[in-house]
Amino acid sequence: MAIKKRVTKMGHYKPPLEGRSEKDYLLLDFSERTTGPSPEVKKALKDFIDLDRIQVYPEYGNLEEKIAEYAGVKNGRAMVTNGGDQGIDVICRSCLDEGDRVIIPFPSFAMHYQSSGIQGAEILEPRYGDDGSFPLEETLKMLEDEKVRLVILCNPNNPLGSPTSLEDVEKILKKAQEKDITVMHDEAYFEFSKITAKDFIDKYSNLYIIRTFAKAFGLVSARAGYVLSRENNIQELLKVRGPYDVNMFAKVAILAALKNKRYAEDYAKEVMEISKPKLEAYLRGKGVGFFPSRANYLFLRLADPTKLMEKLKAEKILTRPKEDPDRKISLRISIGTSEDTEKLISVLDKVLD
Ligand SMILES: Cc1ncc(COP(=O)(O)O)c(C=O)c1O
Repeated sequence: MAIKKRVTKMGHYKPPLEGRSEKDYLLLDFSERTTGPSPEVKKALKDFIDLDRIQVYPEYGNLEEKIAEYAGVKNGRAMVTNGGDQGIDVICRSCLDEGDRVIIPFPSFAMHYQSSGIQGAEILEPRYGDDGSFPLEETLKMLEDEKVRLVILCNPNNPLGSPTSLEDVEKILKKAQEKDITVMHDEAYFEFSKITAKDFIDKYSNLYIIRTFAKAFGLVSARAGYVLSRENNIQELLKVRGPYDVNMFAKVAILAALKNKRYAEDYAKEVMEISKPKLEAYLRGKGVGFFPSRANYLFLRLADPTKLMEKLKAEKILTRPKEDPDRKISLRISIGTSEDTEKLISVLDKVLD
């Protein structure tokens, strides 16, 4: 079979989905919203089915205008995508050729590696510090490599949760722009972190932001994300994204979700201002370390993460093993509602040594 070598040598990205369809499990493994989308979204989806238009190709109308308005950028600077994943993929496909190099500070989100690897790019991996600090000097140094075409900044980092300051992001944007290198700023957790590089779009032509409606808005299974960049960059990406890649369920869900932004804001507020401090205080009291986080998850420092993961699973709470900057496995736990956090804490109390 004439499959390209760069594809055959890649592995699949297979997230651990086993057990997730069990109804009574508390899903703290994929940093999702733990409650459903807004009533407006549910109603709009039901109404869409009743419209009897599923046999018609998708048409996006003013969707991208509405997304731009939500994101606070000029009309023409947003492109809707099939989840944040497609944003990552379209940018990698647009900027990387076989033999190019891409800087992805380690650890990072799996799709950054997958989409870069499929393009045949070589991945350079400066490492985050043990305290979750961003490897600025190393990244800046790597930008001098003539083969580097793309830098992927995950801010806040997944899985660590730690933020990169906008001063550091700008240092990278500036140096990368001088060398005609693209910078992807992954803001998947924007609604929780409130960290955004969007105000740099006017100043830096090499900036592409990816975001998602998967998290605070709870639209993950509809696959709904977007890219923000200069108008001319968006026009280039539109050549790579297919005209119907985003399905109509996602379009209908996004428009309805944006009619009730409060729903996502209230959830993010509960997670970040009630649940997260509660869980952090509990873990501190128990002497369990964790990385500083600006996202809706905490990455724990544990001697035996598998043991804790198995014990939580036995109590019907799923969590996710991930690699730390030293490539040692530890545990990422998503943070849900206050009620979820109380449940998590009561189980942790039972199972932590
Ligand atoms: C850092 C990061 N970027 C992008 C995504 C992709 O989002 P989506 O589920 O919308 O494809 C995720 C999903 O978990 C993520 O953690």
